[in-house]
Amino acid sequence: MVNSQQTISGSVFKKEQPIGVFDSGVGGISILRSLVEGLPMEDFRYIGDSANAPYGTKSEDEVLELTLKLVEGEILKRNSDGTYAEDGCKAAVVACNTATAAAIKVLRERNPQAKIIGLEPAIKPAAITYPGGRILMMATAVTVASEKYNKLKSQFEDSAEIISIPCPNIVDAVETSNTNSDEFAMYLDEVLSPYKENTVDAVVLGCTHFPFVKKQIIKALGYMPDFFDSSDGVTRQVVRLLKEDNLLRSENPDRKISIYNSQGEEKENLSRRLLEMPL
Ligand code: DGL
Repeated sequence: MVNSQQTISGSVFKKEQPIGVFDSGVGGISILRSLVEGLPMEDFRYIGDSANAPYGTKSEDEVLELTLKLVEGEILKRNSDGTYAEDGCKAAVVACNTATAAAIKVLRERNPQAKIIGLEPAIKPAAITYPGGRILMMATAVTVASEKYNKLKSQFEDSAEIISIPCPNIVDAVETSNTNSDEFAMYLDEVLSPYKENTVDAVVLGCTHFPFVKKQIIKALGYMPDFFDSSDGVTRQVVRLLKEDNLLRSENPDRKISIYNSQGEEKENLSRRLLEMPL
């Protein structure tokens, strides 16, 4: 069926619209950084839901409900009749592994015309790089327990040993800027102690908050593993999908990167600082 909004290019969306990026809080900024760099002519609208973070300790149904509300309401600006408002985004990046695991399928089913890009822990490139190796995948409890992740993991279990651990306290530490405290160092020391002597080849950062504590992870392990995250893969995917429908901008002299957070200004300022932080 042709939607009444559809233009001659076949898309209901327009080049000039921003790309929307969503996370449960400030973690998705690690994905926004890569997108901002890889898509230099695009405007971005970042929505973080710190008021409801962490998502990773909620039930999948709760995460689904929160994700639908924000991605459809604040990013795509979907109207009740299924059309999209002009001040919405031309693509929605769900920059959260937890929200992707819980909601991407339903989001795509409800919005077949929209470009909805999700994340998955980067165990594929890690397993390809280290055949027969030991890979530690760190994520939230929802991601580690999700059907989506376990299906992905089962495809690579013959190629490498994949150890998946939930690390709920990292999200909280990043959200509250508490990543340099002794208390946080002790927490990481404890969760990573089984991998200090019995080393791993690679660490997959399966939560978008985690790239902001890479240094602390290296310190706790006492050596430098190879790190894998989802940012490059997701950026390539966004470029490919927008190109497909001729939705990539070729110029934008007055580029805008707007950052909103459900918890207000303090988290918006933290998000801006994280966007600039060297990783
Ligand atoms: N940043 C999110 C992820 O990638 C989860 C953080 C949370 O638990 O809210 O999984």
